Amino acid sequence: MHRFRDTTQGGSVRRTGRSQLSEGMRAQHDPLTAGLPWYGWLFDRILVHTPDVAAVLEVGAGAGLLWTYNYDRLPMAWWVWLTDTNPDVVTELRNAVDGAPQVTVAQGDLADLPLGDSAFDTVVANHLLEVLDDPMPALDEFDRVLRPGGSIVLAADGPTHLIELDRLLAGRVEGWRPLDVPRFHLGNGALVLAERFAGVRQERFADGFRLLDPDTVMMLLAAVCGRRLSVEHAAEIRAEVAAVIDRDGHFHLTTDTGLFVATAH
Ligand SMILES: C[S@@+](CC[C@H](N)C(=O)[O-])C[C@H]1O[C@@H](n2cnc3c(N)ncnc32)[C@H](O)[C@@H]1O
Repeated sequence: MHRFRDTTQGGSVRRTGRSQLSEGMRAQHDPLTAGLPWYGWLFDRILVHTPDVAAVLEVGAGAGLLWTYNYDRLPMAWWVWLTDTNPDVVTELRNAVDGAPQVTVAQGDLADLPLGDSAFDTVVANHLLEVLDDPMPALDEFDRVLRPGGSIVLAADGPTHLIELDRLLAGRVEGWRPLDVPRFHLGNGALVLAERFAGVRQERFADGFRLLDPDTVMMLLAAVCGRRLSVEHAAEIRAEVAAVIDRDGHFHLTTDTGLFVATAH
């Protein structure tokens, strides 16, 4: 029984406009665990890189899906601090973790974290650095609050993540930019991190998904671009996707996503 409330049905944000992608993938690709495969995988990796007795910080925690989804697996001797700058998201986060004794929630910008030096064993940032104009101040702050030898676990997408959706939308949604590559991404993050941390390593999530139903693709597209796709273009895309599924047995969706792990000096 989860003590966290389940916020996975509430349209919470994993990254801009794409939170429901995980829902669609869950429906078709993770029937055995009936859970969000990304959050399960990410938690596995955090477990590997964190001691059994540990203080763990997630910055930009959003609605706390990582923790609600994995609450039953939370080691007993972890103390978890979750923080986000957006007050609305933090309200959602507080509701989700209400009553969980190991978890503390704080609202605020990462530049103002009210946390001591070397206070944490692991710092997690799941799709945070790519939404920042400059990742360096964030990395400095992570370095400050990590104890020497502590780990950062930073998840990010690469430039080809879900590229097929971008291709379907290009030319059909006004102003759609197929390659909106942030300053920090899976392709360049190792170089950025090496300036601050030791032993930078990349770990990749699944290489892709096979979608079997054109309506799943349409649902994912709606999550990405909402009402910006006209009824006519939606019908056109659905027919195109259905033809691919008839021909190949599935519609392939590339996942270019994963994380960096590194160690504080
Ligand atoms: C793409 S969402 C990821 C949410 C969550 N980590 C997840 O994957 O489910 C990025 C989050 O970072 C938060 N954020 C953005 N800038 C921030 C800052 N300067 N300090 C703290 N949080 C920030 C946003 O409010 C948002 O909730």
